[in-house]
Amino acid sequence: MSVLLDIRNLSVNFDSRRGTVSAVRNVNFSVAQGESVALVGASGSGKTVLSRAIMGLVDEPGHVTGSILFEGEQIVGKDENELRKIRGLGVAMVFQDALDGLNPVFSIGSQLKEIFTVRMGFSGTEAKKRAVALMEQVGIRNAKERYHDYPHQFSGGMRQRICIALAVGLQPKLLIADEPTTALDVTVQAGILRLIKSLQAKTGMGMIFVTHDLAVAHQISDRIIVMYNGDIVEEGPTDTVFRSPRHPYTQALMAAHPGRVRSWRDLAPIPDEFVTDGPGEGVISSGPSVAAALN
Ligand SMILES: Nc1ncnc2c1ncn2[C@@H]1O[C@H](COP(=O)(O)OP(=O)(O)O)[C@@H](O)[C@H]1O
Ligand SMILES: [Mg+2]
Repeated sequence: MSVLLDIRNLSVNFDSRRGTVSAVRNVNFSVAQGESVALVGASGSGKTVLSRAIMGLVDEPGHVTGSILFEGEQIVGKDENELRKIRGLGVAMVFQDALDGLNPVFSIGSQLKEIFTVRMGFSGTEAKKRAVALMEQVGIRNAKERYHDYPHQFSGGMRQRICIALAVGLQPKLLIADEPTTALDVTVQAGILRLIKSLQAKTGMGMIFVTHDLAVAHQISDRIIVMYNGDIVEEGPTDTVFRSPRHPYTQALMAAHPGRVRSWRDLAPIPDEFVTDGPGEGVISSGPSVAAALN
């Protein structure tokens, strides 16, 4: 499989008067065409900042260094115009909160239709037909009637489905889903996960699925990347990482309650011997109790 996304020595720092926050530290990984990668880690470990960097969405005072190649094209340092072309047609993102991805003052239909008129150049009639089909594809009943409804007239789960429709409607080669089900209740979550998985299988798009839920990561990914405090501390095929985690941090996570760990919330504090003071390659660099940092 050919490489879709290739990230080398990527760091993201936020400068403030109180000092510099290193949100992402010198990470390296790649995503192949059609591959599904889970990015897991506790709250604050840098998952969202990393995702936004790939989209070219890190704003001041954030500072991105290193290299992000998407199909061989450098994303770091691109201006907004060039980035806009890559976003959507190349890389699309679903955000944690569906309200971030929707415009409250336009109907759902008009937002979906815009994908097909503005971005893909279809006529109005054809665009509307495609927008309705897309609504049906993500499981919105009575799509034709609901076409004219506004975001606030949909439930959280339905809004998230619409965001997924907006993202996959562009037929991206890479979909980044940043905790797309975290704000939803468990049954709605399961439906959305199934939807994303089937869309991915059908379209063959690559995916980075961000989650703090280990069970979700296991279900959805071919490969797992574990982040801790801005570092990638472990990476490997999903089954291998679950069966035999190599890094002490991941081992401690998995060993906590085999088969019972659903979320980072369930995990016991990391034993002291795994915790060191300074940052460093593959080293855990925080206080004694990781449980305190979990969301
Ligand atoms: N705009 C910002 N300014 C300063 N610090 C930020 C900003 N955005 C994120 N951070 C910091 O970057 C770190 C990683 O955050 P984030 O990527 O949101 O974590 P995650 O998504 O894994 O929960 C956190 O310490 C967070 O406080
Ligand atoms: Mg996040």
